[in-house]
Order: sequence, then C-alpha cells, then structure tokens
Amino acid sequence: MNIMTDRLAPSRVPPLDISRVREDFPILAREVYGKPLVFLDSAASAQKPRAVIDAVRHCYEEEYANIHRGVYFLSQKATEAYEGAREVVLEFINAAESREIVFVRNATEAINLVATAYARPLMSAGDEILLTAMEHHSNIVPWQLLRDDIGVVLRVVPINDAGELDVDGFRDLLGPRTKLVALAHVSNALGTVNPVKTLAAMARDKGVPVLLDGAQAAPHLEVDVRDIECDFYAFTGHKLYGPSGIGVLYGRAEHLEAMRPYQGGGEMITSVTFEETKYNAIPFKFEAGTPNIAGAIGLGAAIDYLEGLGVGAVAAHERDLAVRAVRRLSEIPGLRFVGTARDKAGIVSFTLDGVHPHDIGTILDRQGIAVRAGHHCAQPVMARFGVSATVRASFAAYNTIEEVDALARGLESVREIFG
Ligand code: ALA
Repeated sequence: MNIMTDRLAPSRVPPLDISRVREDFPILAREVYGKPLVFLDSAASAQKPRAVIDAVRHCYEEEYANIHRGVYFLSQKATEAYEGAREVVLEFINAAESREIVFVRNATEAINLVATAYARPLMSAGDEILLTAMEHHSNIVPWQLLRDDIGVVLRVVPINDAGELDVDGFRDLLGPRTKLVALAHVSNALGTVNPVKTLAAMARDKGVPVLLDGAQAAPHLEVDVRDIECDFYAFTGHKLYGPSGIGVLYGRAEHLEAMRPYQGGGEMITSVTFEETKYNAIPFKFEAGTPNIAGAIGLGAAIDYLEGLGVGAVAAHERDLAVRAVRRLSEIPGLRFVGTARDKAGIVSFTLDGVHPHDIGTILDRQGIAVRAGHHCAQPVMARFGVSATVRASFAAYNTIEEVDALARGLESVREIFG
C-alpha cells in the first residue's frame, strides 16, 4: 500500500451534487476524439461555468465602457461592476479594506509587482529572501532578477521526501538579514498544503513580511488573509473558474501605501506635469492603464459561483477524488507518486517506470483524458525528486469518481503498451 493511502482520509462533509455542478460547465458536454472529455488539468487552468461566461458576455453586451473615466451612464455601470468585483474579492479572502485589493494580470504579475515595487527599493546587497524548494518558477525568477540587479541573497528552505516543508529549517533560515519570505500556499507540482499560518507567525516574530503565492490555494481552500496574517497574497482568476488575464494582489494597506508604483500610465496618477507626477491612492496607484474590466467582473462571478457551491464542500470533494486516485493508481505496477504530503490539495503527481510522462499524456489524450505532463514550471521540484517530469492529474469541483477510474484504466492501458 502506498503511504498516501494511509495519510489521506476520506472527507465527511456532505457531498456536492456533481451532476448539477457539471451542467454548469458547458465545455464538459463536449467530446474529444469521439470520447467524453475527462478534464484533469484544472491546476493549469480550470474550466468556466456558465455564470462566468454570462457575466463576461453581459459586460460586453450591456454594460461595457471604460471605467473610472466617464461621466456617462455606461461608464458608471461598468465602474460599479468592476468595483463590485473588488468587493467580492475583499470578502472572499477577508481583507480589511477594498483598497488592499489590486487587480493584476495573474499571480505571476502580482509577485513581480511585489519584487519590483516593494522589495527592490527596500533591499540592498546581502539582504536575504527566503523561498522554498517547492516554488513555481513565478516565485523564483522575479527574485533572481532582483538578486542579479541588487545582490540580494536567496535562501531556499528544503523539503522532505514526501514533499513537505522542513519547518525547523524554515525557522533556522530566518536570520537577521531576512527581509522577505515568499512561498507557495499550495505547491502546484506536489499538491502540498503548507502550514502558512504557523510559518507567517514565525516570520512575524522576526519582523519579516510574508508573501504567499496562492495560485493553487484560492480555488481549493478557505483563504483568510487576516487569519493567516500574511502581508501579501497573490492569486489568479483562471484557476478559480474565472477568466484568464485577471489576478489579484492583496497587500496590507500600510505596505501598498509606502510602495512605489509598479508601472506608470493613466489612472495611477492624480496629476501630471513634465516636472512632477502625483500618484493616485491605492489600489489605483498600481492599476496603470485600462485594466481587464470584463476579466475582473468575470472573476467576481467566479468567486460568487465557488462560494455558492461552498469552498469547504469543493475542497472535501477534491480530497475524496485524490483519495480514490491514490488508491486506484497505487495498484499500477511501476507507478511512483511524487508528493505524498500529509496535508495535500487535489493534485496527484506521478511517474511510471519506463514510460516518459509526455508519452503517458499523449496516450491518455487519445482516450479523451487531459492531464498535464512536464515539469509544471517547477524544475527545482523535479530536480529534488530526481525526475525531469511527472504526469499530474488535478481535480476540481466538476470531476467525478468515474473520471478518476477512467484515468486508472488509461494508465493500465499505458502499462500494457509499454509492458
Ligand atoms: N502554473 C500552472 C500549472 O501548475 C500553469 O500547471
């Protein structure tokens, strides 16, 4: 028996009505190669419910104009809808004030914003940024750019063979020169859920601010930024059943107030002369140019949709799917799980002896099953586990036990082909 079967207990939360949930997602009715679509790649990007598609269409068909600029009816309607979405995000993550919610393109842009507008002016050569060995490239490369430009030092907290963070190592690496901790709430490659509240408290004890990459957490866990007591929280809309091209940076108001703008342009100013520019109040100081208006409105609709299902119920369902997947996949000879943490989200990553993950992905695809095969934009994680790539199945509210079984059958057919 694989260790994960013991570790992941089935949930006891009342089940979602999955057939009704599935009806909300028009794309799930389609076939690929004449076979029903089995979509198991929601960690890369989730499918969209009709509520989101309708909200975006309504925006363009009924209420579209540029925002914050027009005195006329349509502009005011669009502004109300856009700012309404900000309020929805505020409630969703329990921020204190809507001015702490900055709309950006995605989690990557949110992290780059913090690196450029918060860290760069504050840090100097020899200052340290604490990362972990399970970060996505988007929470590594922005800090390397900073390292190359101003000489900050990146310290990396190790992970164990299960893919769990070494919490003592984290504590030990928090030193007098640590100026920021930046880590994933949930690992995209392993599914590990980090104990972020504990880690944030350790950092706070040393006066070190914390940025959480919540791209894989916000769609699957209850996120309360004030309970976690983090300083920044980044997430993206497209993994949360919302449109692509819209994401969120939460930042505590005192930080955002003190920070330089990230980009210059329209909307982020109160006055401009060739001699001097006065910047707008937060969050607008960080929203230069016309934003993704329909995207923000769509994200608001996505959050409303997810909350309508219940984040807890969705999390429990995804956990049940992961339990089933681990049980079924454990029976396949030569299958090795990569990421067996005690606390895991609905992500199951694995390799199969003698078969390249891309071949597995391609064979499954021909059976209508969409999984991600590759390094998952987390090459240091792959290196840690001595592999170049894995196959990753990731679950969302709309996936079924039958789809997990289809994945298992698909992998058995791969095993038969490759022996
Ligand atoms: N970061 C996304 C993933 O994990 C694209 O697949």
